[in-house]
Order: sequence, then C-alpha cells, then structure tokens
Amino acid sequence: MMMKLILLGPPGAGKGTQAEFVVGKHKIPQISTGDLLRAAVKNGTELGKQAKTFMDAGKLVPDQVVIGLISERLDQPDCQRGYILDGFPRTVAQAEALETLLQGKGQALDHVVSIEVPDADLMGRLTGRFTCRKCNAMYHKLFSPPKQEGVCDKCGGELYQRDDDKETTIRSRLDVYHKQTSPLIAFYRERGRLRQVDGTGSIEQIAGRIDALLKI
Ligand code: AP5
Ligand code: MG
Ligand code: ZN
Repeated sequence: MMMKLILLGPPGAGKGTQAEFVVGKHKIPQISTGDLLRAAVKNGTELGKQAKTFMDAGKLVPDQVVIGLISERLDQPDCQRGYILDGFPRTVAQAEALETLLQGKGQALDHVVSIEVPDADLMGRLTGRFTCRKCNAMYHKLFSPPKQEGVCDKCGGELYQRDDDKETTIRSRLDVYHKQTSPLIAFYRERGRLRQVDGTGSIEQIAGRIDALLKI
C-alpha cells in the first residue's frame, strides 16, 4: 500500500526514532532533511557550507534550499511506494510548496503525525543522544543505550554527538519550533490530515500508538 506520511514534532520528539519503526513495517524510505543537510555538511559541498551556519545556530536553513532538496529526493524511484518525511515541512511556506509538488504528481498526503512532548522532556533527550555515523541509528545514554559504549548495535559504526545538541543551540531550536513550525499543526488540522500522538512514555509504547493510528 502506498503511504505518504509526515512526522511533525519539536527537536527530540522522537521523529527519527519512530521513523525507524515505520520504515521496518511499511518498507518505505525515511526522508530526513536534517540527515540530508548533515550529509552535505560532511561532504563539504557548497550547500553544506551554507547550511552549517544556520544549523550550528539552531536556526532553519532557508526555505528554497530545503524545498529544492526535497523536490529532488521525491523524484527518486524508491519514493514510488510512499515515504516518511521527517523534519520537513517546518514552515508554512515549506508546507505550501509541498502541496504544490504533490499536486503536480497527482498525489496527496495520507497522515501528518504530530508527536507531542512537553519542552521539559526534550532537553534531556537531546543532550544524551548519540547517533551512528554510518547508519544514523539513534541511541540515548540513559533511555536506549547501545550494548557497547560508543558502538552501534546495528552496524558496528561509531556513535557521535551532534554539533547542535549543545544546551544553548537546543534552546534556540525549541524557540524556532514554537515560532516557525508549530503553526503547521493548525495548517494540517484545517486540511483534515492531523493525527496527534502522545510522545511521552517508552519508545515501544509510542511506536504502538503510531502504528494504531496509521491503520485508521
Ligand atoms: P533535524 O535533524 O530535523 O533535527 P530536529 O528537528 O531538531 O529533530 P531531532 O533530530 O533533534 O529530533 P528527533 O525528533 O528526530 O528525535 P530523536 O528520534 O533523535 O534538523 C537539524 C537542523 O537542520 C535544524 O535545526 C535546521 O537547521 C536544519 N533543518 C532540517 N530540516 C529543515 C527544514 N525542513 N527546513 C529548514 N531547516 C531544516 O530522539 C532524540 C533522543 O531521544 C534520542 O537519543 C532518542 O534515543 C531519545 N528518545 C526517543 N524517544 C524517546 C522516548 N520515548 N523516551 C526517552 N528517550 C527517547
Ligand atoms: Mg531527527
Ligand atoms: Zn549504525
């Protein structure tokens, strides 16, 4: 079954963590603009150099840049059976551009899943996060530690802490979320696409909640 899904939520809500479960179950790709941008930074491309300044400040990369990235990515053959958008759209302008892109393809979104977690929980989730350099799998030093410190359970890759997971940068990312991204909740509610999920509790509990609502 074709499924096109957006995972919406503040930094640390668990978008990447939950996307892994949906990928496993529905065999559709996860498209994270954050991952695409970090790959560009790592490869030292012109786009990566521009993006890094914004990312390190906890600000959004300009809309045209990420819209361009997404537009190219959705044209790839693996997107024909659907996809999970993780961290895109993040502004009303991006959401409108996505509507136009999808209309051009004769497609529509199935669900916009808003993962809701109080700000008070997010700081601890982000300051304790570790990510695999090779496969992007996510860990947390307290909540979901790897079997061996610093090593990915899935692929043996090295775990690292993201440059933007510093307290001051996290504060700015949360602020940006509330100002620029949270208006998308009303945007998708008006369009009848919004599915709100309680993002507190264990990772498995939340995966179960998301799974249940994707069947509706
Ligand atoms: P991006 O990479 O998208 O970061 P983000 O939105 O800040 O979200 P995170 O990846 O930090 O959190 P997440 O929700 O994926 O949580 P995770 O699953 O890792 O963007 C980075 C930057 O790129 C932006 O700041 C911006 O500059 C730029 N950018 C990206 N997209 C853009 C766009 N569209 N437009 C403009 N700029 C853009 O979980 C976090 C931690 O919590 C993990 O350690 C995990 O193990 C743990 N955890 C997860 N679930 C639970 C749970 N239930 N209980 C306890 N711990 C948990
Ligand atoms: Mg993420
Ligand atoms: Zn890995």
